[in-house]
Amino acid sequence: MTVDTTPPLETRGLHVSFGHAAVLRDVNLTVPAHTAVGLVGESGSGKSTLGKTVVGIHRPRTGQVLVHGEDVFSVGKRRRAAMRRQVQYIPQDPYSSLSPRRTIGQTLAEALDPRRADPADHEEAIARVLEQVRLDASTTAKYPHQFSGGQRQRIAIARALILRPRLMIADEITSALDVSVQAEILTLLRSLEATIEASLLFISHNLAVVQALCEYVVVMHQGVIVEQGRVDDVYRDPQHDYTRRLLASVPGSEGFSLD
Ligand SMILES: Nc1ncnc2c1ncn2[C@@H]1O[C@H](COP(=O)(O)OP(=O)(O)O)[C@@H](O)[C@H]1O
Ligand SMILES: [Mg+2]
Repeated sequence: MTVDTTPPLETRGLHVSFGHAAVLRDVNLTVPAHTAVGLVGESGSGKSTLGKTVVGIHRPRTGQVLVHGEDVFSVGKRRRAAMRRQVQYIPQDPYSSLSPRRTIGQTLAEALDPRRADPADHEEAIARVLEQVRLDASTTAKYPHQFSGGQRQRIAIARALILRPRLMIADEITSALDVSVQAEILTLLRSLEATIEASLLFISHNLAVVQALCEYVVVMHQGVIVEQGRVDDVYRDPQHDYTRRLLASVPGSEGFSLD
């Protein structure tokens, strides 16, 4: 068996502005195949903007987004839509991200095939992802309000997984949750890392969690990547002043050992 080592995601010279404000500047990011990469930086540094630009929620002023080696802006609409499915973005807020009027089964079926959004047509795939995120099969018939924040985040993960993406972008997906629930979700992500083919871009301001979950880390400051490398190397011997300050400001990393 040959292993596909094409990076699921690369950005080249990405610039994003909102009005006159430049929010991302010359962002060159590579997420290697089968790898978890942490994206850290203080609030407002542009992490979410980067994730959202990659999945097409924002459009860059200039620059390229390559999904599995192919520039999403150089292909036709249909091809682009197919490529977009390969990269799934999981937002921070588990309360606004699920449609309140759809059962979980409908939401999952719709993710898989918007034109045939009947859960009965996708029973096997739905059962498989619910098992992957450790939710009961009865979840399918229920509505989002019947679940806790942590369970909703599992559902959001399932909705991403059902498309068998090459990359999942998890944007602060535990920051709205209680600490004990956070650990559960992180443990789940860790087990998924080991069992699925996808890479993970894990956006977080918690440096300890990034170290526990990721092999590489990318440090962003005011819309610029200031440093990247293996997590252990960067944390042990940060090269950039901003990374040093970020590491020095970590309160305590207790409670986040995932073992
Ligand atoms: N849709 C938007 N319109 C205008 N400004 C935005 C928008 N989204 C984010 N910003 C601004 O872009 C900057 C980066 O935000 P964001 O990407 O959310 O940072 P982070 O996720 O690192 O906290 C911030 O100054 C924010 O106010
Ligand atoms: Mg953000």
